[in-house]
Amino acid sequence: MNLECIECGKKHDLSTVVNTCSCDGLLEIRYDLSEVDFSLKDRTAVPPHVWKYRELLPISGVPVSLMEGGTPLYRCKRLEAECGLKELYVKHEGMNPTGSFKDRGMTVGVSRAAELGMKILACASTGNTSASMAIYAAKAGMKALVLLPSGYVALGKIAQALMHGATVLAVKGNFDDALLLIQRVCSEKGFYLLNSVNPYRLEGQKTIAFETIDQLAAYENGNVPDRVIVPVGNAGNISAIYKGFKEFRELDIINNVPMMTGIQASRSAPIVDAFSRGLSQIEPLADPQTVATAIRIGNPINAPKALRAIRQSNGVAESVTDQEILKAQKDLARLEGIGVEPASAASLAGLRKLIAQGTVDRDEVVVCVTTGHLLKDPESIMKACHPPIEVDANFDALYATISELERS
Ligand code: F0G
Repeated sequence: MNLECIECGKKHDLSTVVNTCSCDGLLEIRYDLSEVDFSLKDRTAVPPHVWKYRELLPISGVPVSLMEGGTPLYRCKRLEAECGLKELYVKHEGMNPTGSFKDRGMTVGVSRAAELGMKILACASTGNTSASMAIYAAKAGMKALVLLPSGYVALGKIAQALMHGATVLAVKGNFDDALLLIQRVCSEKGFYLLNSVNPYRLEGQKTIAFETIDQLAAYENGNVPDRVIVPVGNAGNISAIYKGFKEFRELDIINNVPMMTGIQASRSAPIVDAFSRGLSQIEPLADPQTVATAIRIGNPINAPKALRAIRQSNGVAESVTDQEILKAQKDLARLEGIGVEPASAASLAGLRKLIAQGTVDRDEVVVCVTTGHLLKDPESIMKACHPPIEVDANFDALYATISELERS
């Protein structure tokens, strides 16, 4: 196993705490896969969870785990019919312990922190990372410090971070400001940084790719999906999932990699902008905005990895409006019974737009990743839905209301 810079190829000492190269490039963990003993011969017989794939994870001891991963992959026939698509699956990452995909990365990141003897974990977060870091800090008996962009984090996520005992600071600035601050705090104070610039985090998140392949094998025609669609914020997850598919291809478990397709909110879309202009670097946005606060990010730190993942896999990056996101959220909830927070619905909203454009072929097998649970953001639900109907506590009043329901 090596820790390598994706820009200059420099190898870094695995025993030191380092997240970026001296050339400022991002780091990646690389394995000699010819040495990997991937011993789970019949992988489909073992129930999915992150540590099922431990031969491909960078932790040798007992992990700090709360049984993360093993999320459902739903076939979505009603949405398929509505979109006119051959096969559509949703990988619902909202079904992780804290209700987001972050738990996959955090179990690996915090296990690494434990190996290094770290005492204080830290992150900047639009909410989900902080909730996840807080539960693993609790499990490991470590302290957690989180910086949130004041006024722009969904209530459920703050509630989780608080209840699990993190020190929660609301920074008067946006996520990008908070990330710059916490990176410096970590290097000056020796706290362990658990944002997705930490390559150990992405190792856990790549298991979304492994599980998707194993779960699709259980479906009739299942093997490799043509396309995987992911909501993009700080751009770690799409990079991690791509890495997972590449490793399975190198191990000859699959023979091609799906087209990685990244979706951003239209007023927070620097990666879409760089992709469409053929640039290898993004131009950061000073004031990103979107109802999907989880992906309200103007300067995604993993942009170089994400742009490579999208381009190398022949995928695309596209943006969707807040309105399209909220419609997709409601449709997932009401047509398929899948409850997701707004950012997660960007994947379905993006799929619809790409089908309408003709970029996605109707014959494709598509997996949309939904990244966080509906209950994360109760305030956005109350804005999107009719409130409960008040009714007097008698049968006349009750039946008058019910008869309206029967008529409609
Ligand atoms: N979806 C949800 C629900 C998220 O919380 C995030 C990121 C993303 C998508 C985007 O993932 O950053 O890997 O591209 N949330 C981070 C956080 C930034 O702090 O919780 P990404």
